[in-house]
Amino acid sequence: SSPSEGPMVFQRSFSLSSVKAGVSACQFLPEKVKIVEVGPRDGLQNEKTIVPTETKIHLIDMLSEAGLSVIEATSFVSPKWVPQMADQIEVMKGICRKPGVTYPVLTPNLKGFQAAIMAGASEVAIFGAASELFSKKNINCSVDESLQRFDEVMKAAKEASIPVRGYVSCVLGCPYEGKVAPEKVAYVAKRLYDMGCYEISLGDTIGVGTPGSMRQMLEAVTKEVPVNALAVHCHDTYGQALANILVALQMGVCVVDSSVAGLGGCPYAQGASGNVATEDVVYMLHGLGIWTGVNMSKLMDAGVFICRTLNRKSNSKVAQATCKL
Ligand SMILES: *[C@@H]1O[C@H](CO)[C@@H](O)[C@H](O)[C@H]1NC(C)=O
Ligand SMILES: *[C@@H]1O[C@H](CO)[C@@H](O)[C@H](O)[C@H]1NC(C)=O
Repeated sequence: SSPSEGPMVFQRSFSLSSVKAGVSACQFLPEKVKIVEVGPRDGLQNEKTIVPTETKIHLIDMLSEAGLSVIEATSFVSPKWVPQMADQIEVMKGICRKPGVTYPVLTPNLKGFQAAIMAGASEVAIFGAASELFSKKNINCSVDESLQRFDEVMKAAKEASIPVRGYVSCVLGCPYEGKVAPEKVAYVAKRLYDMGCYEISLGDTIGVGTPGSMRQMLEAVTKEVPVNALAVHCHDTYGQALANILVALQMGVCVVDSSVAGLGGCPYAQGASGNVATEDVVYMLHGLGIWTGVNMSKLMDAGVFICRTLNRKSNSKVAQATCKL
């Protein structure tokens, strides 16, 4: 057998045994977790209110002050499609860039990529869906076609030495297709990884996953992509987000996406909660003795700030429990 088969075999037997071992699997947890704060982009994009540029800049600066090391700042899409992100250049120019903090931006095409670089972006993100119907309904092309469209972005990013993060949506269910096969998720994740994405964020876009389906999906994906290149992106629509994240941690995932105050609704279920709240994730991680680098009190302040501005209740249970709003 070739030398490269060694670690993969180990990984396979590890994930199998960790499932069978039951109790001992629960004892496996990472010492530290990287949180990718997606509130200012994914969150605000899905809020009804269009937030003033100054507010976005202040929010991002509060989040970096709170110790978050990755903050998704904005999106370089056409304002025709996403009016909430029309001020992307002003946001990128206005934020106070803290050393050691990265501010990735979403770039759907080469034009967006070039504009992002002009505005000083040092990391970008691309995206694909694990559901054919979702891809068709959202961007009118197949999953493979949608990934091919990123070839130009990947090439330009490589030339400019810009790291690219990849998102896969609908990994645990699709609003149109229902169930999504774990093998399809693994296929799309591997495509993104092979294209050169350094990290693949697996998104339960509609929040229908459970610890059971999360485990099955990760078992399939970790056969194709190294677990240290994976992140999970959970929505709390059915109240399963923290449980799903815990299962992912037990399976070796060390990167978690979340949104301050749980910003962002669920466009497919009116009134349902969207992104898992960063406050709640940090509370759980610190409770497990896992290092995040986040100062909880400063994070809570950022949540209070944005909820006051949006005149909405925080979706964070921790914020609700501590009566910050
Ligand atoms: C979707 O794509 C097909 C085939 O490329 C094209 O004929 C059609 O006009 C597109 N529909 C929309 C709404 O853009
Ligand atoms: C967190 O920030 C607060 C100020 O908001 C400060 O008083 C506290 O010492 C910080 N905690 C840690 C653990 O650094």
